[in-house]
Amino acid sequence: MVLFQMIIRSRPLNGARSVTRKFSSVPFVAPPVNIYNGTSDYTNIDISSGITAGGAGQRRNADPDAVFVVSGANRGIGLGYVRALLERSDGKVVACCRHPEKADTLNAIAEEFGADRVSVLPLDVVDKGSVDRATAEIKSKFGRVDALINNAGVLGGGPGNMGPEKNLAGLNRDFLTWNMEVNVIGPMMLAQGLAPLMAAKKGRKYLDSRQAETVIVNMSARVASISDNVRAGICWHSYRMSKAALNAGTRTMSHELRRQGTWTIALYPGLTDTDLSVPFQKGVKKEMIFPVNFTCERMLNVVDSMDLTHSGGLYDWAGQALPF
Ligand SMILES: NC(=O)c1ccc[n+]([C@@H]2O[C@H](COP(=O)([O-])OP(=O)(O)OC[C@H]3O[C@@H](n4cnc5c(N)ncnc54)[C@H](OP(=O)(O)O)[C@@H]3O)[C@@H](O)[C@H]2O)c1
Repeated sequence: MVLFQMIIRSRPLNGARSVTRKFSSVPFVAPPVNIYNGTSDYTNIDISSGITAGGAGQRRNADPDAVFVVSGANRGIGLGYVRALLERSDGKVVACCRHPEKADTLNAIAEEFGADRVSVLPLDVVDKGSVDRATAEIKSKFGRVDALINNAGVLGGGPGNMGPEKNLAGLNRDFLTWNMEVNVIGPMMLAQGLAPLMAAKKGRKYLDSRQAETVIVNMSARVASISDNVRAGICWHSYRMSKAALNAGTRTMSHELRRQGTWTIALYPGLTDTDLSVPFQKGVKKEMIFPVNFTCERMLNVVDSMDLTHSGGLYDWAGQALPF
């Protein structure tokens, strides 16, 4: 069958803006929901009608002064988030990446939407100076952050250009350290730097012009779930441990930050067609490999439909609460 690309405009349900999505001639159909081992302490997030009408997500998206910060925004899911946020919200997107001068697709999006909507900023999450400079720049230019999407992450590559470990013998100190630095320490330090700009509430009152809670989104993975890790198979020590630690950080932050009207959530996007997943797509059914635009729309529907009771939880692309 000859596949060809076409652009269609879809009308998302309930409150989200229409999103331009690329499909092959065979439309992608979301598979049925996953079944996980173990039970979650959290309830599912209902995204059956798109996003929750009148909820914090809808109010945040309608605010032209709202600021959405995305790390690893030059490719893959991060790039998808930038476009999806620009299309579903009226706010400003701060798209952070290691090498803005080489980020051609991101720069093209920035030009398309204009400097008032998109700022491209250098950010290497493992470099303290870079995190500090990005934080200072966001503070001086915007003075507020309404959503931080800690998207930058690694699975393979890095020191020794290794893939994720296949067994204990494959564990490598440098590779493990690098996974920890990119997948946990970087996101946590960025959250620490930006949290003061995310204060949305004092008691029951919203601060400033903000009329919605803010949110820290940490990109996690199903393999980070310890309860779901019941079968021998892929090993991936470094990735699993780093994302499990990120889940712990997500939950621990939620207790403190809820007092300032900031919620936190860890997300499992599903196997998504990006550079990161390409080496692991062999043998996976086509319908289980999500296009980036599907993933980002689903993830943002989950974030935009959450409330305080979901803060600190780990959720998948269907709004299902995963056990930790
Ligand atoms: N794709 C999936 O199936 C899948 C499944 C579960 C979870 N996830 C998670 O989703 C997130 C995005 O994944 P993806 O599939 O889009 O991966 P990707 O295509 O490999 O993109 C990774 C992004 O992270 C950036 N990055 C890496 N190290 C960085 C650093 N030190 N500082 C700043 N940025 C850095 C990369 O920038 P450069 O271009 O400069 O390298 C790139 O923009 C990750 O956290 C990943 O763990 C993905």
